[in-house]
Amino acid sequence: MPFPLSIEAPDGVLAGLYSRELSELSGIETSSPLTLILASGVVSLAGGSVRENPVFVDFVGGTLGFRRVYGGGRHSEGVARACFGRMKAPVIFDGTAGLGRDAFILAALGARVHLFERNPVVRLLLRDGLRRGRDSDIPEVREITSAGMRLEEAPSVIAYNGDVIPDTVYLDPMYPERKKSALVKKEMRIFHELVGQDQDREEYLKAVLDADYRKTVMKLPKWADIMHPERVNTVVATKNHRFVVYASRSQGKSETGE
Ligand SMILES: C[S@@+](CC[C@H](N)C(=O)[O-])C[C@H]1O[C@@H](n2cnc3c(N)ncnc32)[C@H](O)[C@@H]1O
Repeated sequence: MPFPLSIEAPDGVLAGLYSRELSELSGIETSSPLTLILASGVVSLAGGSVRENPVFVDFVGGTLGFRRVYGGGRHSEGVARACFGRMKAPVIFDGTAGLGRDAFILAALGARVHLFERNPVVRLLLRDGLRRGRDSDIPEVREITSAGMRLEEAPSVIAYNGDVIPDTVYLDPMYPERKKSALVKKEMRIFHELVGQDQDREEYLKAVLDADYRKTVMKLPKWADIMHPERVNTVVATKNHRFVVYASRSQGKSETGE
């Protein structure tokens, strides 16, 4: 049974700042009761029973803060190995931006990342995370989020009609969770309940491959089948995932910057 998204906005400044985005959220339904909360300078999403673990985009602290300080470089982050190849500062279209974690890692390593996200609630969480990142008192976070990350108005790479031509298009659609649900972190469960499964992942990949960008990267869980194997250039494997690198049809495999 679907539940309408509820919205609580005790922070009037944020409510004013995001009035346009909030007006686009009426009518959104989710598979469990979820509440969007605008409070104390942060936009977050909470589940009915797990209000103490709301989801919000955090480019300053949390896991990303830790990875920025202690994380690996271009060669040890699987997503960067796949999306950069030998390029030093690629322009990357992140076609499934989600909570912006991969986009932040790529931008922190020198890429210019354009973020595309079709879910309006996730887009608002991202917009708010970027705003806080750009206001951060950590200069590096300000630089990464303002110079390296741009949230596009177009909901997907296919709908984009701007002038920028990316070196790499990166896709990380949602796959069904294979682990027992108790093992999935609570905040990820809320995110899953909001966006559901990206059942159209194959169509999205096909549309991007048909558009024939220089290089396309698709992240898959280890157990998932590789789609369009005839176009695969290389595969970067990590503990739980595979990053499948597809070559451009017209430019050939040498052009992917591997
Ligand atoms: C698994 S999450 C991505 C996580 C992200 N890589 C991160 O690091 O936070 C997938 C996201 O892609 C979005 N998405 C899936 N298919 C899409 C499409 N065709 N166009 C735009 N966004 C899409 C979903 O709404 C969801 O937020």
